[in-house]
Amino acid sequence: MNIIEKPLKIGKIKIPNRIFLAPMVDVTDAAYREICRSAGAGMSYIEMLNIGAILHTNPKTQNLMKTFENEYPKAIQITGKSVEEFKDVLPFLKNYDLIDLNCGCPSIRTIDNESGASLLKDPEKIVMIIKMLKKTKKTVTAKIRLGYKNNNVLEIAKAIEKAGADALTVHARLAWHSNKIPADWEWIKRVKESVKIPVIGNGDIDSPEKAELMCNIADGAMIARAAIGNPFLFKQIFHYSKTRKDMPFNFKENLSYFQEYLRLIKKYDIIDLPRAKYIGTNFFRNIKGASQMRQKLMTCRSYEDISDTVEGFSKANP
Ligand SMILES: Cc1cc2nc3c(=O)[nH]c(=O)nc-3n(C[C@H](O)[C@H](O)[C@H](O)COP(=O)(O)O)c2cc1C
Repeated sequence: MNIIEKPLKIGKIKIPNRIFLAPMVDVTDAAYREICRSAGAGMSYIEMLNIGAILHTNPKTQNLMKTFENEYPKAIQITGKSVEEFKDVLPFLKNYDLIDLNCGCPSIRTIDNESGASLLKDPEKIVMIIKMLKKTKKTVTAKIRLGYKNNNVLEIAKAIEKAGADALTVHARLAWHSNKIPADWEWIKRVKESVKIPVIGNGDIDSPEKAELMCNIADGAMIARAAIGNPFLFKQIFHYSKTRKDMPFNFKENLSYFQEYLRLIKKYDIIDLPRAKYIGTNFFRNIKGASQMRQKLMTCRSYEDISDTVEGFSKANP
C-alpha cells in the first residue's frame, strides 16, 4: 500500500487516508466537504468558528455547524480568547467527534479578539485550552503556524502534545507571513522529529507530487487553496499515487462536483448565495470564456439562476 492510502489513527478516530481538506472560511461548508470527500479527501473540518458566534447561535453559524449525511468524523474547528469561553462552549460541541483548536488565523478581526494566531504568543494558554477541550473525552487536535512574530513552533508543538492533544497540523509560515512567502517545510520535518503525536503538514501543496512529498515528511498532507474550485485534485492525487502517472485535468468532471455542490446546499438547506457564487467562480479558471462565465455567475440573483447558468454552460460545451 502506498503512503497516501495508508489509514491514520488520530485519537479514537481512524482516517482512511493521508489527504486532508483544510478548514476554510467561506468554503468548507457541509456540501463542499461532502464533494471533496467523495473525490477522495480522507478528512475535512467545519471552517473556523469563533466561540462567540457559536454561543450566540445565529442562523448563519448554525448552518455552518451542520454536517453532511453520514459524515465521519464530524470535525469542528473553533477559536476563542479565554479558557472560560472554551468551557462555556463545550455543551455546543456534543455532536462532533473531533475538536480542532485554531491557533493560526491571522485575520485582523481574529487577532483583535486575541484568538486564532494570537494564541501562539501564549503557549501556556494553549495548554489550558487543550486540557479544557479534553474534558469532553473527544479527539482534540490543534492547527498552528510556526509562530506569531518569531518562530517558537517546537516549544508550541511540545506543549500541545504534553497537554494531551491527539494530533497537530502545522501551517509552515509565521502569522505575519503572506501566502506569497513559501511555506518552510523544513520546520514541519523538525516538528515531526520533536513529537510523537501525528503531525499533518500544510502549506503550498497544489499537486499530487507535493502531496506525496508531504506524506513522506509528515503523517498527512493538508490542502487549502488548491482545493478551492478543484475537488478533482483529490482524484489526481490518488491516481498518481496508484499509477505514478499524471491524470490530466478534466474540466467537465470537475464542474460536475460544483453541480453536486449546488444540489447538496439545497438538500441541507444551507443556501448562501454570495458563497455559492464565490465557490462557483473558482470552478471556472483556465478555460475559454472563463472570465465571461465568472461575471455571469456574479450577477445571479437566485439559487435557480446559478443552477441554470451552470447547466447552460455545460450543455453549450459538451
Ligand atoms: C479562503 C481561505 C479560508 C481559510 N480559512 C481557514 C480556517 O477557517 N481555518 C484555518 O485553520 N485555516 C484557514 N485558512 C488557512 C488554510 O487552512 C491553510 O492553512 C493555508 O491556506 C495554507 O495552505 P495552502 O497553501 O494549501 O493554501 C484559510 C485559507 C483560505 C485561502
